Amino acid sequence: MQHLVETQQFDRASLKRLFELATSLEDKRDESFKGKILASLFFASSTRTRLSFESAMMRLGGNVITVESGESSSQSKGETLEDSIKVVSQYADIIVMRHGEVGSATRAAAVSKVPVINAGDGNMGQHPTQALLDLYTIQRELKREDDIHVAVVGNLKYYRSPRSLAYLLSKYNGMRVTFISSPELRMEDDVKNHLKENNIPFIETEDMTEGIRDADVVYQTRIAKEWIKNDEEYEKQRGRYIITRDVADHMKEGAIIIHPLPRVGEIEEAVDASPHAVYFKQVGYGLIVRMALLKTMLTGKEI
Ligand code: CP
Repeated sequence: MQHLVETQQFDRASLKRLFELATSLEDKRDESFKGKILASLFFASSTRTRLSFESAMMRLGGNVITVESGESSSQSKGETLEDSIKVVSQYADIIVMRHGEVGSATRAAAVSKVPVINAGDGNMGQHPTQALLDLYTIQRELKREDDIHVAVVGNLKYYRSPRSLAYLLSKYNGMRVTFISSPELRMEDDVKNHLKENNIPFIETEDMTEGIRDADVVYQTRIAKEWIKNDEEYEKQRGRYIITRDVADHMKEGAIIIHPLPRVGEIEEAVDASPHAVYFKQVGYGLIVRMALLKTMLTGKEI
């Protein structure tokens, strides 16, 4: 039995396999998982990840049971995560879990009788399925796997998705990364050390105009109010890096803007009509990547 906890589990061949399967599932539905049950345990809030996994399971003929929040589950009575997982893994064939604590997916996997998929653990943990759909979007939109310059903008410290993506980018050749943030929200050393060890050149800058000038991918992030507890600090950071239509219009031809969403003002709505904007298309790619992941993990194949 295999769990998905972090993106370090993938290699180039397994990513290619997964993405080819995802593409083959576009606009498809089947009954392959009739009688199978997915438990979506979202002890922390979500719209896209929970609903896209549930939609993916239903499109494959399966059923879904859900915990929508910590408050609506017995976690609010003090039940440990381990006990919750020991119980739910007797009700379902696969568990998709989001939890507010870094390391929670590893703890769940250690006691589960069925595969566990990490749908986000804490603010500085990982969000592997988001990174998979981010990478799928990049490769599909740019029509190549190598020689890509990715500029990650904004909240690099308290944002698990770019952390997970960095571990995937390092599988490819000719990649470059530009981290654009204020000094307070810089990327953590573990990710930067991983890039160094894998000979992926990166720079850190506060200058968004300069940083995105040559980028093939602009990965915008949200300044997360739920993770920056100090109101003064949040107000200071919010609004510092906004992608306006003018910023988008000065991007390189063929470059794309992606964002895990939700956005809260860091990409102006006027950008939505720009040819560079692919963040809503990215949502649709997320559905087929998650269908492909369920197809792989529920049939016991290696990811
Ligand atoms: N991108 C993402 O994880 O969105 P949700 O928080 O809505 O699941």
